[in-house]
Amino acid sequence: MLKDRTQMDGSRVLLCVCGGIAAYKAVEVLRVLQRAGCAVRVVSTEGALRFVGRATWEGLTHAPLATDLFDCDTSSIPHVENAGWADAVLVVPATANVMAKMACGLADDLVSATLLAMPAGTPVVVAPAMNVHMWQAPATQANVATLRSRDVRLVMPVPGRLACDDVGEGKLAAVEAIADAVLEALREAADADGPGAVKTPDAAPLAGMHVLVTAGPTHEAIDPVRYIANASSGKMGYAIAEEAALRGARVTLVSGPTALAVPRGVERVDVVSAAQMHDAAVAAFVDADVAICAAAVADYTPKFVADHKLKKANERLDVIELVETVDILAELSATKRAGGRRRVVVGFAAETNDLARNAQAKLGRKGCDLIVANDVTRADSGFGRDTNHVSFVGADGVEELPTLTKHEVAERLLDRVAELL
Ligand code: PMT
Repeated sequence: MLKDRTQMDGSRVLLCVCGGIAAYKAVEVLRVLQRAGCAVRVVSTEGALRFVGRATWEGLTHAPLATDLFDCDTSSIPHVENAGWADAVLVVPATANVMAKMACGLADDLVSATLLAMPAGTPVVVAPAMNVHMWQAPATQANVATLRSRDVRLVMPVPGRLACDDVGEGKLAAVEAIADAVLEALREAADADGPGAVKTPDAAPLAGMHVLVTAGPTHEAIDPVRYIANASSGKMGYAIAEEAALRGARVTLVSGPTALAVPRGVERVDVVSAAQMHDAAVAAFVDADVAICAAAVADYTPKFVADHKLKKANERLDVIELVETVDILAELSATKRAGGRRRVVVGFAAETNDLARNAQAKLGRKGCDLIVANDVTRADSGFGRDTNHVSFVGADGVEELPTLTKHEVAERLLDRVAELL
């Protein structure tokens, strides 16, 4: 058994969950892989959702769960996109049904279509679990043999008392054994020079770069218990930070208050107010090559902060005098060429109307290289959502993207940043 489960920085694992009682064990496998440093995406059959619900997967991966072949817009084909993204794929629990589909090449749902769409050489790990008679059925055993002949790695089920109370082979292998099989496959692929090589090193265009990302809201204190804030969850900025780290960058994430976990490989600096965010961002920018300001920074802050809780009976709460905060994005843009360096600064613009025109004005006013204009009026976009609808507004014009997950927006944005660099 492998002991080192800590060195897989950013390797991409696609976890296909199928409908069996052991689906809950897939949650533990996901956690072990995440702790080992893997980026994990999940696709689930509809049947599997009866065992482990959508909220669990979305909560653990911070991404929408895909279950439907046709649940997409015209710009993305989820089974092809997910298959191309993965360095390795894991099927757990692998039911008799999904193994039969794999053996025959059937593609009638998202999981089976994704498995069929895996590029040659991508390691496929399958951990079966089912009733002992289903496991021993000649059809299943023939399918197992077929999969093995195609270099699919099987983490064999173990004997024991099964959910149906039968005793025999069919119990899902131990979580650690399954995770180890995936990690071993990733390491072998990384060592190999062939098409199965892990994509991360090749996709590390930001290696050696320092990327600064601001994310989340700021809280501007009125008194010790009250503050001015906004609805930013931090998801957009965190997705950018995570993707930049996956691409090999050193990443400093200056984050306002959020409920999100620090992405793997990212150094987070926690701040509360706009003034603190300014100081942290300016300090990190000293040796940064790229700054991406996704935070929703308060434009105004109370002129005076009371040192005690204001009483509504005898103190003024209906009028709060405000002063403008310092514009972090504008300041970073103004200093980006200091010392003759060529650095890239990207701002966001949360807009409710005249998106492109307002973003173009902001591009000029703030002096940055690119504005990500964010339509925050749509139900599938903006504050707190998992998806976003944005346009890239630069000196060369406006590129409107379809609605994408925030991770996909981050991927597209970092492609664009790489071009600007
Ligand atoms: O966090 P999520 O819930 O995922 O939501 C994402 C988001 C909607 C917050 C994000 O996509 C977004 O649009 N961020 C910018 C929000 C915003 O404050 O926009 P703005 O138009 O007010 O500011 C323009 C730019 O100036 C932004 O890059 C902002 O970070 C920056 N700014 C603003 C004020 C200030 N004092 N300093 C700044 O740096």
